[in-house]
Amino acid sequence: MFRDHTCGELTIADAGKEVTLAGWVQKSRKLGGGITFVDIRDRYGITQLAFYKDQNADLYEEGNKLGREWVIQITGMVQERSSKNKNIPTGDIEIVPSAIKVLNTSEVPPFTIEDETDGGDDIRMKYRYLDLRRNSVRSNLELRHKIAFETRSYLDKLNFLEVETPILVGSTPEGARDFVVPSRMNPGEFYALPQSPQLFKQLLMVSGFDRYFQIVKCFRDEDLRADRQPEFTQIDCEMSFVNQEDVLQTFEGLTKYLFKNIKGIEVSDFPRMTYADAMKYYGSDKPDTRFEMKLVEIKDLTTNKDFVVFDSSEYVGAICAKGCAEYTRKQLDELTNFVKRPQIGAKGLVYVKCENGGVYKSSVDKFYNQEDLAKWAERCDAKEGDLILIICGETEKAQKQLCELRLEMGERLNLKDKNVFSCLWVVDFPLLEKDEELGRFFAKHHPFTSPVPEDIEKLETAPETVRASAYDMVINGVEVGGGSLRIYNSDLQKKMFKVLGFTEEKAQAQFGFLMNAFKYGAPPHAGLAFGLDRLVSLFAGLDSIRDCIAFPKNNSGRDVMTDAPSVIEQEQLDELCLKIDIKKD
Ligand code: AMO
Repeated sequence: MFRDHTCGELTIADAGKEVTLAGWVQKSRKLGGGITFVDIRDRYGITQLAFYKDQNADLYEEGNKLGREWVIQITGMVQERSSKNKNIPTGDIEIVPSAIKVLNTSEVPPFTIEDETDGGDDIRMKYRYLDLRRNSVRSNLELRHKIAFETRSYLDKLNFLEVETPILVGSTPEGARDFVVPSRMNPGEFYALPQSPQLFKQLLMVSGFDRYFQIVKCFRDEDLRADRQPEFTQIDCEMSFVNQEDVLQTFEGLTKYLFKNIKGIEVSDFPRMTYADAMKYYGSDKPDTRFEMKLVEIKDLTTNKDFVVFDSSEYVGAICAKGCAEYTRKQLDELTNFVKRPQIGAKGLVYVKCENGGVYKSSVDKFYNQEDLAKWAERCDAKEGDLILIICGETEKAQKQLCELRLEMGERLNLKDKNVFSCLWVVDFPLLEKDEELGRFFAKHHPFTSPVPEDIEKLETAPETVRASAYDMVINGVEVGGGSLRIYNSDLQKKMFKVLGFTEEKAQAQFGFLMNAFKYGAPPHAGLAFGLDRLVSLFAGLDSIRDCIAFPKNNSGRDVMTDAPSVIEQEQLDELCLKIDIKKD
């Protein structure tokens, strides 16, 4: 036996026992008086080994001083510590080894493997296997396991079956860009890696599986951000003979169950917000509802005062930052620069300070008198001591800019508490989105999403007004999941492809198998997919989903540890009949 206990479990109740442990040397401390302490670590915790002069100090010397990250096995007596450490579960005891066996030595690691490490991001990614020895990273993966495990258990009890779907699939240019894989046996032809198992799960409904789920890798070749990885994991689900309410109840149930069983938090019923309201009040289809600070439209109160900037804008909107009237010139300049950054793109920022004694000070005093400003303040529910921030422009753009400003103010005012969870459903999304450049419509969710029944008749006459039976689950401003009721009638599906600008031949070539399947008794069905990485990050309070993925990619989509992607041998290219001709600028 290598060990009879782990490094995280011995307590004062074990004092006097002889035990054997195995693990990694975290660090050694040589104290005066011939005493040396060595911390030994495994997945479960840290235990202190003690070497005393005239007792077992020789053993430490013989062990060749036990370098950092050496793998050792020790046998010794558990005894009470003289100076206890209340911060760790094993902090009351130490082990006085009577035997040490070095199982393996280690080179000096490139960074310290402790909670507070001296390693920067890049080096920790390069040596990810060492980073994974650290408590914080490991505990994120433990949480991930628990969420996946509890999800399986919950869905199994509801009769969901986990079915695996293929990873080598056909390319479908709708949605994000595909990662493609050349087929050796079919020269010149390519598989794609699935962006999601959408089509397969719908086919499983045609097959009568009724309730499907899969914890599944998905692949999207899109620009990366803190909440996006090129390969990520979905908890993908589909159900037959259900309406929207059934789906929302089922997955709200799962989410509440996870909060309760994993975080010990009871969350109340999720409010529902229409997409239109989310945009109007938060400027986003994934509003962070941990705090108020809603967008307020004030255009009608600003017109005809000779302020051309507002008069010529389609939209003038404001947010009220409570208690910020004392913001200095410098702070206001910072906010102006923030909204003018190219990523946000506002032309400027107007402010009104609601000062004590009912006096308003604004950056547009020239155009608006105290009475005008009082009306704005009333509409924004701004009181003495508050600061009103105003952005104008084209409606949707200005709303999105105000959303960014609102989130920034939320950050500055500490309103984004990571221990508070504000969940909601956003419903009634538009079915279609117009690409003004290409002059055509795209499905906002995907082409298999059903229009709201009463809007179907407008599909050909006023497509932009058609609402989708689609829903997103949003927690703290993060879209953790989304789904829809599906079209299950092949005529309606054909109509949808037509609106999306597919010729009959193209629709047949890409999705013929689905439309054919729908001819053989497709049940009404609907589903949803959660982003598992995003869910875990939220539960763990992480800033990036990278930290809950064992081996993530960096922002350029590279795995710096294995150095992927990489060039391949000419021989391999020849076998695949591929000729590479890279144009370099
Ligand atoms: P959708 O594209 O909305 O829907 O994806 C579902 C959820 O997956 C997560 N997600 C991501 N997470 C990390 N990195 C990414 N690049 C990434 N892209 C998406 C999000 C998102 O809410 N087949 C449909 C679902 C359905 O209709 O049933 C789909 O894939 O949390």
